[in-house]
Amino acid sequence: MKPRFTALKGVSDVLPPETGLWRKIENAACEVMGPYGYDEIKPPVMEQTELFLRSIGDSSDIVAKEMYSFTDKGGRNVSLRPEGTASIVRAYVEHNLSLRPAPQKFLYFGPMFRYERPQKGRQRQFYQLGAECFGVADPGIDAEMITMLVSFLEKIGLKGVSLEINSIGCKECRPAFKENLKAFFTPHLDSLCPDCQRRYEQNPLRILDCKVERCIQIRQNAPLISETLCQDCKDHFSGLIGLLDAMGTSYFFNPHMVRGLDYYTRTVFEVKSEGLGAQNAVAAGGRYDLLVSEFGGPDTPAIGFAAGMERLAMLLKEAATGEEVFPGAASPAIFIATLGKEAATEALKIASRLRAAGKRVEIGWSGSLKSQMRKADKSGAGHVVMIGEDELKTGKFKWKNLKDGSSGETAKEELLAKF
Ligand code: HAM
Repeated sequence: MKPRFTALKGVSDVLPPETGLWRKIENAACEVMGPYGYDEIKPPVMEQTELFLRSIGDSSDIVAKEMYSFTDKGGRNVSLRPEGTASIVRAYVEHNLSLRPAPQKFLYFGPMFRYERPQKGRQRQFYQLGAECFGVADPGIDAEMITMLVSFLEKIGLKGVSLEINSIGCKECRPAFKENLKAFFTPHLDSLCPDCQRRYEQNPLRILDCKVERCIQIRQNAPLISETLCQDCKDHFSGLIGLLDAMGTSYFFNPHMVRGLDYYTRTVFEVKSEGLGAQNAVAAGGRYDLLVSEFGGPDTPAIGFAAGMERLAMLLKEAATGEEVFPGAASPAIFIATLGKEAATEALKIASRLRAAGKRVEIGWSGSLKSQMRKADKSGAGHVVMIGEDELKTGKFKWKNLKDGSSGETAKEELLAKF
């Protein structure tokens, strides 16, 4: 059979039992991050397009090429969110959350949308779990957040990942760096890809992110931001490094990392996994100390990260052996085979009592006993309970343990205790 409809390119269904793995990841995030003070926030999936232009930046690939934007029926320019941070900052300012005691910490889960070329680990609709913290400038909170992310990844059993960190300066020292970069790229301008020629004008930092081979070659000797950091940024970064060392959190200093979103200041970080191929970032984030005030709120330092759910799930599946990878994938504990209408009614009653006690129960509604037994077997059920005319008369139900082959008979009132 040929399906009449299929999902859009780059957009996929997450089916059971994989959804059980996703739930395990989300639960682990709540368990690890709850004690750090993170509570869930649910921002909308669409916002005014302007919000993303002003935060992620119009020189970024996300805004320049990847947004799902449209004009709604009221003539507003709207976009599906390509990431969560901008919405959370908007909510923080809109609801005056700065009046609540600092720090304010939020955790979120949900779909994001980017019109990218789909490939392994890269979708057009993908899910992130993210955390954002408002109100602390001290590098202590950077160390706390990075350590929390590492603990979360350990909790879900992710192995073979590495953490990279860098500082990309602040509004005092970044302009000089941009000028240095521009000066460096000027003699190479004609050789840069057309995107980087645009980036050169809009934001030369973005050239450091380009994936085109000739741009990678040209930028090999480009100046490093670490060479032009102001003293405050240097102190902040060395404060973070000292704390990570003290916590025993391993990291690599990657002086080339700039991140693809414009709102970052100072600390940026990425967690990478070799198992992912070209799209190797499992999680990434950084500080964005200017964004709250740019959105009309009070001066509020902030930091956050987001992890890609599909990438986490893919790595856990690839690393897993055996069944434990899908924790939510339970087979029915009991399959009730029925013969006749009356038996089906009785089965429904018994099943609801067992289900109320948390047992997973399936009912075989029709067909011969043999075909229902086959169904029970296929379903992976632990036990089959049979209800036919005799059982209805006597109130005693035959059962069979499908795992060890044992069988017996149990009175209706005792079924709950038996299974
Ligand atoms: P990002 O680096 O754009 O940062 O995305 C974070 C993570 O989302 C990536 O490391 C990756 O795991 C996942 N991801 C991104 N794009 C895709 C895609 N097309 N398909 C599958 N997974 C993807 C942000 O979004 C920032 N908002 C992070 C942040 C929070 N910074 C501060 N607070």
